[in-house]
Formats: sequence, structure tokens, C-alpha cells
Amino acid sequence: MKVLRNILSAGFFLVCFGSPGHAEDKLYTVVDGTKVDAETMKGFRTWRAAACDRCHGANQEGLVGPSLIQSLKILSKEEFAKSVIEGRLEKGMPAFKTSKMVTENIDHLYAYLKGRADGAITKAKVELLK
Ligand code: HEC
Repeated sequence: MKVLRNILSAGFFLVCFGSPGHAEDKLYTVVDGTKVDAETMKGFRTWRAAACDRCHGANQEGLVGPSLIQSLKILSKEEFAKSVIEGRLEKGMPAFKTSKMVTENIDHLYAYLKGRADGAITKAKVELLK
């Protein structure tokens, strides 16, 4: 596996987080802070396409909406998905249930943002790990 060779040969840093007690379920893979696996890359593309940055900031640091770096440290995956799909209309968070891109990529979006909140993904802009 090319990724593994890279780690061994170049000392790249691979971070894989799973849900607690399920270390084998990798949520995302990131190398050098900005190179991510294909699924996490879909999460980043969804973030861009849905323009979440308009309200949550280009670096997820918060703007009119809260910092998702902070929120994702606390929210469960289910709470995250519910907030995004159903929105909190009275509080200014739109519902994304009519966005095919968002509903189909909600797990990837979560993985990307969780990687940001964990500090494993060091910059908002990521690229595909080759
Ligand atoms: C029009 C502005 C706007 C856009 C666009 C927007 N949000 Fe929000 N979002 C908000 C606001 C405002 C809140 C705070 C709602 C509240 O106080 O409960 C929020 C809350 C959230 C929360 C819950 C945070 C928490 O700590 O409970 C999540 C998760 C979230 N947004 C993710 C997203 C994602 C992902 C996208 C893009 C798909 C997005 N938002 C797009 C304004 C926005």
C-alpha cells in the first residue's frame, strides 16, 4: 500500500480516529495535516459546495454561526447530522435536507469537520492523498 510505504520511508504522520471502542473504524485519514483520503475529500468538497463558510467562517472558526472547530468537539455524529439536515431555522441555521450533495455526503462532511476539530487536519483547504 502506497500510503504505508510513504509513512515508513518518509516518516509521514498518519492519523486515524474511530468512534470510541471501535478503533478499526477509521473516520478519516490525514497525512501532513492537509492530505486526506478520498472520502474525507468529498466532505471538504461538500463544505465548499454548500458554502457553509458563509456563516461558519472560511476556517470553520465561526462567523454569524458558531465555530465548528468547537462544536464538533462536543456534538455527536447524530446531533451534527440532525443540525445540518433539519437546520435550526429559528436560530438562522438553514436546513440542508433538499441538498442532494449534503444529504449524500453527510458522513464525509462530518469526517472532514471532525478532523478539523481534532486538530489532525491543520488547514481548512485539503488535497487528495495520493
Ligand atoms: C445562513 C448561515 C448558515 C449557513 C449557510 C450554515 N450555517 Fe450552520 N449554523 C448557523 C447558525 C446561526 C447556527 C447556530 C444555531 C443555534 O444557535 O442553535 C448554526 C449551527 C450549526 C451547527 C450546530 C452547532 C452547535 O454547536 O450546535 C452545525 C453542526 C452547523 N451549523 C453546520 C453547518 C454546515 C455543515 C453547514 C453547510 C452545509 C452550515 N452549517 C451552513 C448558520 C449557518
